[in-house]
Amino acid sequence: MSPSSEPALEAAEEVDREDVEIDGLLEAVYRYYGFDFRQYARPSLRRRLWRRAHLEKVTTMSGLQERLLHDRACMEHLLLDLSINVTAMFRDPTFFLAFRRTVVPLLRTYPFIRIWNAGCSTGEETHSLAIVLAEEGLLDRTRIYATDINESVLVRAKEGVFPLEQMRAYTENYLAAGGTRAFSEYYTAGYEGARFDRSLTDGVVFSRHNLASDGSFNEFHAIICRNVMIYFDTKLQDRVHDLFHESLVRFGLLCLGQKESITFTSHADDYKVVDAADRIFRKVR
Ligand SMILES: C[S@@+](CC[C@H](N)C(=O)[O-])C[C@H]1O[C@@H](n2cnc3c(N)ncnc32)[C@H](O)[C@@H]1O
Repeated sequence: MSPSSEPALEAAEEVDREDVEIDGLLEAVYRYYGFDFRQYARPSLRRRLWRRAHLEKVTTMSGLQERLLHDRACMEHLLLDLSINVTAMFRDPTFFLAFRRTVVPLLRTYPFIRIWNAGCSTGEETHSLAIVLAEEGLLDRTRIYATDINESVLVRAKEGVFPLEQMRAYTENYLAAGGTRAFSEYYTAGYEGARFDRSLTDGVVFSRHNLASDGSFNEFHAIICRNVMIYFDTKLQDRVHDLFHESLVRFGLLCLGQKESITFTSHADDYKVVDAADRIFRKVR
């Protein structure tokens, strides 16, 4: 071997070793805790694992693996790190406007409506959907299933208390999403935050569901899964698209995030585009 190729070899070994260690860590987490992050998109996964490693003051991925297996609190922190819970009420207002204008009239044709809000995080999205459905006179005949991999965000979603300081931005989003009431009608301001009207979530079932490993549990007229699959690699995205396709009624609606699409998935031909910009698709076969 020529001396000049040695640094390159060392660099390659370093990268390979890290990959091997990350594979081992993810396998261990899956086998010990049942959380399957093996098919999450690698670059952002690597970044988040290293962030956790630095906070735990370990210098290798193997060190982090050992910590994770022996310290449940470390695992819980990693879970929060990995399942990025950023959300907002009426996030991407144009989507909610499109939902009101194009999805609601289609849902109205069903006597009883089932909606799956997958990856609902702390519930801002679920509350936004409930507000639109209430204003359109459909909430009483709708059951929303709001699911997430993360138990702690579901607890907060059920509480329906959101930071007061967000209310100004959420009011603007609500109005941009076609809302015509006073947004403040929906919550009571208290010391703990803005507590949303319980009647919005009376018909919501909040439950843990892991898109990477759990199966279909009902047939839905609409599935809203926004800003979740961006964290998955293409194989896991395909798995989730299989699951959604199986879980939608014929002519059911699939709503994705603005950076997500059905194009290039194995189900591309099974849907008709309803709204390209706001990523709304209708199952046609
Ligand atoms: C960025 S948030 C999106 C929240 C909301 N849908 C929105 O668009 O505002 C992503 C959510 O997906 C959840 N998630 C990540 N991996 C998941 C999985 N395998 N199964 C179910 N939910 C998952 C996370 O816990 C997190 O709450």
